[in-house]
Amino acid sequence: MESKDKNLYTLPTKEEKYSLLDKKNEEALLGGGERRVEGQHKKGKLTARERVELLLDKGSFQEIGKFVMHRCKDFGLDNEYYLGDGVVTGYGTVNGRLIYVYSQDFTVFGGSLSETHAEKIVKIMDLAMKNGAPVIGLNDSGGARIQEGVVSLGGYADIFYRNTLASGLVPQLSAIMGPCAGGAVYSPAITDFIFMVENSSYMFVTGPNVVKTVTQETVTSEELGGASTHSTKSGVTHFSCANEVQCINQLKQLLSYIPQNCEEKPPVIPYESLDDESRPALDDLIPENPNQPYDMREVIEGIVDEASFMEVHKNFAENIIVGFARLGGKSIGIVGNQPASLAGVLDINASTKAARFVRFCDCFNIPLLVMEDVPGFLPGTDQEWNGIITNGAKLLFAFSEATVPRVTVITRKAYGGAYDVMNSKHIGADMNFAWPMAEIAVMGAQGAAEIIFRKEIAAADNPQEALQEKIDAYTNKFANPYKAAHRGYVDEVIKPNETRRKLIMAFSMLQNKVDKLPKKKHGNIPL
Ligand code: HXC
Repeated sequence: MESKDKNLYTLPTKEEKYSLLDKKNEEALLGGGERRVEGQHKKGKLTARERVELLLDKGSFQEIGKFVMHRCKDFGLDNEYYLGDGVVTGYGTVNGRLIYVYSQDFTVFGGSLSETHAEKIVKIMDLAMKNGAPVIGLNDSGGARIQEGVVSLGGYADIFYRNTLASGLVPQLSAIMGPCAGGAVYSPAITDFIFMVENSSYMFVTGPNVVKTVTQETVTSEELGGASTHSTKSGVTHFSCANEVQCINQLKQLLSYIPQNCEEKPPVIPYESLDDESRPALDDLIPENPNQPYDMREVIEGIVDEASFMEVHKNFAENIIVGFARLGGKSIGIVGNQPASLAGVLDINASTKAARFVRFCDCFNIPLLVMEDVPGFLPGTDQEWNGIITNGAKLLFAFSEATVPRVTVITRKAYGGAYDVMNSKHIGADMNFAWPMAEIAVMGAQGAAEIIFRKEIAAADNPQEALQEKIDAYTNKFANPYKAAHRGYVDEVIKPNETRRKLIMAFSMLQNKVDKLPKKKHGNIPL
């Protein structure tokens, strides 16, 4: 009897248990402590929790694994523990829609990835896959937890594996908001879209010191792998953001165009047709001279719902435009040749940029609109030696495989192999329109005349005049949309001002499209 009382006396009371929980919750919120939080702010960076707050609807965040701690006993880590172990994970909503999020906490061991840190990320990725909702990773990490060795590398591989399994199942978005180096870059690389923050984030496989040792190049982190480099030179990042707030706002905007998973359709914004979808300004956008450039962005913006165009990969391979927009309130993905850059020619970077975008849209049931003005593939040794054949084939393959509704508008040039590649009828496009100034042929009139009438022109009394005659003849015959329309390769020739109305009707007609590829394990896209 006496010993029982004693036991009761030594057990913590209910109040003490509640207070212990409060204490632990408070401790977890502190991350690596005030000094390190201050350091983070001094660098112009937000903390992991501040980022999550900014991303999610107010009060919606539900944390998972707040009290997880690392298991490492080496190099003094048995004396240094932080609740949560350097990553904040959980779920919440963005504009009312469920998302899973992980946010690395640089104030705890530099956000480095330990075994337990990885397990937390894996847990929310598994939940996201089972429940069909996007995963957003906010990355700010010094890489593998050096004290843990191979255990940390295993943790990375567990994440890479999940990234791959989740690819095409749920959207995965990565924001890089600090360091991201070594093999750690491969998780974001597998995800669908990467956002980087200018001047405070970088991504590279090996840093400036290793670069110096191996190649004798002197380069700063920013030059080697900053947002500007990856948004213009390598194309690794799809968005380069001025600061973290803009980065998170752009993440949210992108989410508004895409569905929760591959089984769902993208969200629709209520749209009231004004019964006047005519856009007369489009009639005067294309210059009379077919060799004069114009900005395809203006055409796109003139066609889609007002202010709905969100361009992806804006500063990389500018000869092709890709991005999301809404047409009558419904999401579409747009691929457009850009005559204002390299005359809109297809090269290696343009082909891979567009191919990846087409595949994303196809994964997630986003109909595709192609705005075509393409003089062909870019000639030259640089392109050939670097594999324009394989890379151009990626775009051909991506379009051919896409089963979402697909519509093409040929605004001007559609020449050569590029005509076939740019979502032609022959590779499965559903509706193809052409504007009256469209030129659909094997090649431009001058090149064609010079080849097929070479002997005649050389034998003529006035070769220059003869050449011009032949150019005119070829132009009259082929530099128009009617040969293609007679064959049914173009479904309708329309005036530019009608394009918006025609597209709304075409996509509406196609909204229940069902198209299946032949049963197989998977295709073998020319990577
Ligand atoms: C453990 C780390 C760490 C790491 C940083 N820290 N990186 N702890 N493992 N990888 C700790 C630091 O000891 C420090 O602890 C705190 O985080 C902040 O780091 P600082 O160096 O003070 O910050 P800063 O000057 O901003 O420099 C950040 C940094 C630098 C550039 C990231 O810390 C750095 O170079 N870290 C090592 C990066 C690295 O080599 N990682 C392994 C890459 S290989 P205190 O206690 O002082 O706050 C890799 C392989 C992955 O990741 C392969 C996957 C397949």
